[in-house]
Amino acid sequence: MYHIVTGGAGYIGSHLAEDMVSRGDRVTVIDDLSSGTYMTEGARFVKVDLRDGAAVGKLDIDGGATIIHLAADPNVKESMEDVIGHFHKDVTATLNVLELARRHDAKAFVFASSSVVYGDARIIPTKESNLKRPISNYGTFKLMSEHLVEQYAVSYGIRSTALRLANVVGGRTSHGIIPDIIAKLRLNSSELEILGDGRQQKSYIYITDVISAINVVVQKPKEGFRALNVGSADSLTVKEMADIICEEMGIKPVYRYAGAHDGRGWKGDVKVMLLDTTGLRRLGWSPAMSSREAFRQAVRDLLAAKKKAPGR
Ligand SMILES: NC(=O)c1ccc[n+]([C@@H]2O[C@H](COP(=O)([O-])OP(=O)(O)OC[C@H]3O[C@@H](n4cnc5c(N)ncnc54)[C@H](O)[C@@H]3O)[C@@H](O)[C@H]2O)c1
Repeated sequence: MYHIVTGGAGYIGSHLAEDMVSRGDRVTVIDDLSSGTYMTEGARFVKVDLRDGAAVGKLDIDGGATIIHLAADPNVKESMEDVIGHFHKDVTATLNVLELARRHDAKAFVFASSSVVYGDARIIPTKESNLKRPISNYGTFKLMSEHLVEQYAVSYGIRSTALRLANVVGGRTSHGIIPDIIAKLRLNSSELEILGDGRQQKSYIYITDVISAINVVVQKPKEGFRALNVGSADSLTVKEMADIICEEMGIKPVYRYAGAHDGRGWKGDVKVMLLDTTGLRRLGWSPAMSSREAFRQAVRDLLAAKKKAPGR
């Protein structure tokens, strides 16, 4: 099989590219290295900024690929400040990749969407059809991108899937609560500032379970457009997450709660997130780890990596 992985030098993309190469598939990684640093041996690497439509239009790549579009800036907090910058990183880049898919007769298209599209969901666990409205710019841009993907699926016959991912952890996590809290505790192990009231409740998914979800939809493309949730069946409160990190680090700091009003950690922070994954399970996928197991394993991965190579 032949795949193009955008954002393939980043966290999820590098795991995916490695997995695909290890199975003997042909992989082209497209990334501008704005935040990603990983190079996959055996994959072709093309450096381009996907916001630049003219540069994307000149790319010399073979047709008939399955395109897995992961390039984006996943920082929810920053999307509330640098709104236009985030729009281009998330929406303009997606449109340019869809044009690439159209011009190069993509076999299928997989888009990395997010659980944030549901905002403050009314129904928990949340089904794909339970969309209300996002509460962050990042969430809105993901939903706008999904609409573009759907439009291209309908207008140009590209078989497309949007995967709405829960919080992904494990291996090389470089952003999110685990590296943030570990960094804070390394500076001061006696006190920990927790963003929000600690009762926000979120679902986690281990990186290998995300890779298997992507592989399932790549191998079973469907005519038209579909959105599928990817997550585990349980969730953790932020306080429980902090407890797990402290246990693994062998420390007992005093917790101090700070952040936006309403118990949220920041503007756009979703308070409760748990996804109904019946749709993906019907395709034969199920996660090997619960949120609790995934979170603890990810903490261990990161602490072990920090011991080996400080800084990353
Ligand atoms: N990590 C999570 O918990 C999570 C959850 C839900 C959805 N997602 C989505 O999954 C995808 C991958 O996330 P990640 O955690 O691996 O992020 P990441 O930041 O580690 O990787 C993103 C990659 O995209 C590249 N990139 C960014 N803008 C680009 C541009 N304009 N042109 C070319 N390359 C560009 C970066 O250099 C980086 O290598 C993103 O779309 C993200 O929104 C991630």
